[in-house]
Amino acid sequence: MVDLSAHHRPFCCQLLILFCLLHPAASDQPHSISNTPGEEALSIQGVRGSSVELDCQPGPTPVAVLWSFTPLGSLVLQPVAVANGASSRVESGASTLGIVSLRNSSLVIEELREGARGHFLCQTLLVSSGQVHAIYLYLTLSVLVPVSKPRVHLSDPSPTEGVSVLATCAVREGTGPLTFSWHHHTPQGPEEVLVGLSGPRLQLDPVNRTHLGWYKCRASNAVNQLSSDGVFLDVIYGPDKPVITVEPLGFTEDGFWASEREEVTLSCLAASNPPSHYVWFHDDSQIHLGPTYIIASASRAHTGPYTCLAHNSHLDTRTQTTVQLIVYYPPKGQPSCVMLPTFGVVTLLCTWPGGFPNAQLHWEGPQGIGPTAPSNVTWSYTATGLPNGSIFTCMGQHPTLVVPTLCRLTLWEPPRSPTCGTTATVGDQFIMLSCEWPGGEPPAMLNWLDQHQQSLGDPSSSPAVSLLQAQSDLAGREFTCQGSHPLKAPGSHCRLRLEAPHLTVAEPRVSVLEGEEAWLGCALQQGTPPAQLLWLGPQQQRLEQSTYGFTLHPEGAQLRLQVRDADPAHHRGTYQCVARNALGNSSQSVMLEVLSEWEGWYPAPPNVTISRLTYRRQRREVQLQWAIYGPGNLTGFLVQQRASVPSSEAGAWEVAASNIEPESRDWRLGGLDPGVLYAFRILAMNHHTAGHPSEVKTPVDPAFSAYPAVLGATSTGMVVALVASLLVFQYAARHPHTFPCTETAITTSSSDPVQEFPDAPVNVTITVTATPEVQ
Ligand SMILES: *[C@@H]1O[C@H](CO)[C@@H](O)[C@H](O)[C@H]1NC(C)=O
Ligand SMILES: *[C@@H]1O[C@H](CO)[C@@H](O)[C@H](O)[C@H]1NC(C)=O
Ligand SMILES: *[C@@H]1O[C@H](CO)[C@@H](O)[C@H](O)[C@H]1NC(C)=O
Ligand SMILES: *[C@@H]1O[C@H](CO)[C@@H](O)[C@H](O)[C@H]1NC(C)=O
Ligand SMILES: *[C@@H]1O[C@H](CO)[C@@H](O)[C@H](O)[C@H]1NC(C)=O
Ligand SMILES: *[C@@H]1O[C@H](CO)[C@@H](O)[C@H](O)[C@H]1NC(C)=O
Ligand SMILES: *[C@@H]1O[C@H](CO)[C@@H](O)[C@H](O)[C@H]1NC(C)=O
Repeated sequence: MVDLSAHHRPFCCQLLILFCLLHPAASDQPHSISNTPGEEALSIQGVRGSSVELDCQPGPTPVAVLWSFTPLGSLVLQPVAVANGASSRVESGASTLGIVSLRNSSLVIEELREGARGHFLCQTLLVSSGQVHAIYLYLTLSVLVPVSKPRVHLSDPSPTEGVSVLATCAVREGTGPLTFSWHHHTPQGPEEVLVGLSGPRLQLDPVNRTHLGWYKCRASNAVNQLSSDGVFLDVIYGPDKPVITVEPLGFTEDGFWASEREEVTLSCLAASNPPSHYVWFHDDSQIHLGPTYIIASASRAHTGPYTCLAHNSHLDTRTQTTVQLIVYYPPKGQPSCVMLPTFGVVTLLCTWPGGFPNAQLHWEGPQGIGPTAPSNVTWSYTATGLPNGSIFTCMGQHPTLVVPTLCRLTLWEPPRSPTCGTTATVGDQFIMLSCEWPGGEPPAMLNWLDQHQQSLGDPSSSPAVSLLQAQSDLAGREFTCQGSHPLKAPGSHCRLRLEAPHLTVAEPRVSVLEGEEAWLGCALQQGTPPAQLLWLGPQQQRLEQSTYGFTLHPEGAQLRLQVRDADPAHHRGTYQCVARNALGNSSQSVMLEVLSEWEGWYPAPPNVTISRLTYRRQRREVQLQWAIYGPGNLTGFLVQQRASVPSSEAGAWEVAASNIEPESRDWRLGGLDPGVLYAFRILAMNHHTAGHPSEVKTPVDPAFSAYPAVLGATSTGMVVALVASLLVFQYAARHPHTFPCTETAITTSSSDPVQEFPDAPVNVTITVTATPEVQ
C-alpha cells in the first residue's frame, strides 16, 4: 500500500488525478504508447543487496513520471515514486523494495530486497507538438539470492573399510538452479576434483582407504559460488598382511640369508589405520615389540623362522607374516688343491668342505675354465704340451665372501729321467727292482716291464718296486722301468740287467817274508744286484774283521785282505776271494807264500833262552836276562809279552821291545800292570828273519826275603799269595762279617778301593786289593 500522507496530499492528489486521467483503463487516448503487464513486460534481474536501475524508456524529457509497483502474487498497484519536471518524491512505503530513488525518469533501487520482486509500471506524460502523450511501460523485476556457504555432512566420519558412506552438501539459501562440485585431498596428496559429480550427494560404496582425507563441496548459481570447509573422512582399515624386509638384502629359495657376524635388520610393515602395533616372534617365542628387529651380530643360532604380527587396536584385527632367515657361514680355512698321479691325464682335486651353503669351487687352467661343483671338484685334464710350471687355480666362492678364496697347483716335470736299482733281500731269496724318479707335480708314474715288455705290476709313483724270486736263470735278463709324466712325451725310462757276480784278484800269487805283512787284493767286475765280496782262509774259514792277524779293507768294489806278521805256519796257503749275490757266486784263489830264513833267505838266527825273569818296582817292571846258543847270525832281539791266560785263543803276543842291540843280554821292561800276570818270550832276529822263540816264562819275585818288606810297606795294598790262601782271602774280602778272623792276615791299603774279582780258575795267580781295617 502506498501511504499518501496528508502533507503530500496536494501534490499527490494532483498526480493521482493526473494518473487517473492518464490511466489507459480510464482513458481511450489515441496517442498513448504502452506495453501490457504479463505479456509484453520487460524482464529485469537484480541481485539481492545490489542495486538495480529501472529505465523508463528515455526520450524527450517528460512532464511527469509515475512509478508504481505490484508485488508478485498481488494485484494491488502501489505508487512508488513520482516526479514532475521540477521535483520528485519517493513514497515511504517503497523502502520494502530497498533504498529507492529516481534518477530523471529511471527508478534506482539500491540494497535490493526480495520484496522488490514483482511488476513495475512507469507512466510518463510528454508534451510534444502541442499534444499530451501518456506512455506506459511495464517491467518485471526478479530478485536473485546468492548461495550461502555450503556445509558437508558425512553419514559416518570414521567408517570401516567396506561400508557405505554418504556425504551431503547442504546450502541454506541461494537462487536455483544450484550446481555442486566435490573436492578431495588425502593427507599426502594435492586437492583433486572428483569429476562427474554435480549433485549435493557423494556416495562412497564401499568406502576404502583411498577415500580417506578431507572433503569439500562447492555450490554455485547464477550469482556466485562458495566452498565448504573440509571435513575429514577417517577410513579405518587393516592391518594388511605384513611385508617383511631384511637388510642387508639376500634372497634364497627359502627366504632371506645373512652372513655370520653381520648386523641384520628385519623390518615389518603392515598398512593399517590406525597404525599397526608390531610383535616379533622367533621359534614361537616373542623377541621384540616394534616394527624393526635388529640382530647385532648374526650367528648360526639365528637361523630359523621370524614372524611379524601386526595388530590394529581399533578394529582388534591381526595379521602375520613369517619369513625364514638363514645365516650363512663360509667353510673354514681355504680350499685345498691336490694333484693325483694318474696315467695320461692329470687329475686335479679341489676340496673345501663345510660352510653353509657349501662353497662353489671351480678350476681355472692355463687354457680356460674347468668344471664347477660345490665342496669338491675334480678335473681330469690332458696336460701334454703344457709348459713346465703351468699353474692351475681352484677358486672357492661363497655368498659371505667378497672375494674368492683360492689354492694353486703348479704342474712341473721331474728333472732328468728315472733311475733303476736293484737289491736282494736278506737271505737272497728275492731280488728287488727299484725305480726312482723323484720330484714333479704330479709325481711321475713308474712301471716295471720285463724283457717281453710285460708289466710286472701296477704302475705307481716313485719309487716303484718289484720283487722277483731269486733264480739263477734270471742272470742276463733285462728289465725296463718306464716313467711317464703328464707334461712329458712318453719315452723316459731306465734299464737294468741282472748279472751273476764276476771278480778278479790283483795277483794270484803273493810272497812275503816271515813277519812282514801281506796284502791280497780282490775286485768285483760285475754283479747285479751288487755282489758281496769275502775272503776264505787256507782252511776255507771265512775271514772276518775280528779274525786275529787279519784285517779287511773294503774300498768301493774292492776288498783287500791284510795279513799281519806273516807266519809260515799259520798264514801260508790258498786263499779264496768269493763274490756272492742272489743270482750266484764266483771265486778266485790267491796263493800266499811266507818265506822264512831256513828257506834260504837269511841265515837263521841262533836260539835264545831266558836265563832270568824277575819283578821289580812292585811288579810294574820286569828285568829280563837271556842267552843265545846254537849257530846263526843276528841283527837284534825282539821281546814279546802276553797276558798269561791259559786259553790258546786269547792272549795274543805283542811286541814288548824290539831293536834290542845284538850285543844286549839284559833288558828292563816297564809300564806293567801289577794286577796282570804276563808271560814273556824272546826271539833273535836276523834282519826280518826271526829265529825260534825262546821258552815262555812268567816273572818271579826277586827273592823271598823281600816279601815282608813289601807287606810292611804302608803305601801299597798289594798282596800276592798262592792260590789256596788267596781264595780264602778273596772270600773274606767279599764277606767280612762272616769271616772276621782274616783281618790280621791282610795287608791294608789306605786308598785303594775294593776290587771285585771274577771266580778265577785255580791255577792262576791273582793280585788283590783290600780295604784297610781300623786297628
Ligand atoms: C536528467 O535530465 C537533465 C535535463 O533534462 C539532463 O541534463 C541530465 O543529464 C539527465 N540525467 C540523466 C542521468 O540522464
Ligand atoms: C577404492 O575404491 C575405488 C572406487 O571407489 C576404486 O577405484 C579403488 O580401486 C578402490 N581401492 C581399493 C584399494 O580397493
Ligand atoms: C666329493 O663330493 C661328492 C659328492 O658331491 C662326494 O660323494 C665325495 O665323497 C666328495 N669327495 C671328497 C674327497 O670330499
Ligand atoms: C720344471 O720346473 C721345475 C722348477 O719349476 C724344475 O725344477 C724342473 O727341473 C723343470 N723340469 C724340467 C724337465 O725342466
Ligand atoms: C756258491 O755258494 C754256494 C753256497 O754258498 C755253494 O753251494 C755253491 O757251490 C757256490 N757256487 C759257486 C759257483 O761257487
Ligand atoms: C833251536 O830250537 C829249535 C826248536 O826249539 C830246535 O828244533 C833246534 O834244534 C835248536 N837248534 C839248536 C842248535 O839247538
Ligand atoms: C854274520 O854277519 C856278518 C855281517 O852281516 C858277516 O860278516 C858274517 O860272515 C856272518 N856270519 C855268518 C856265519 O854268516
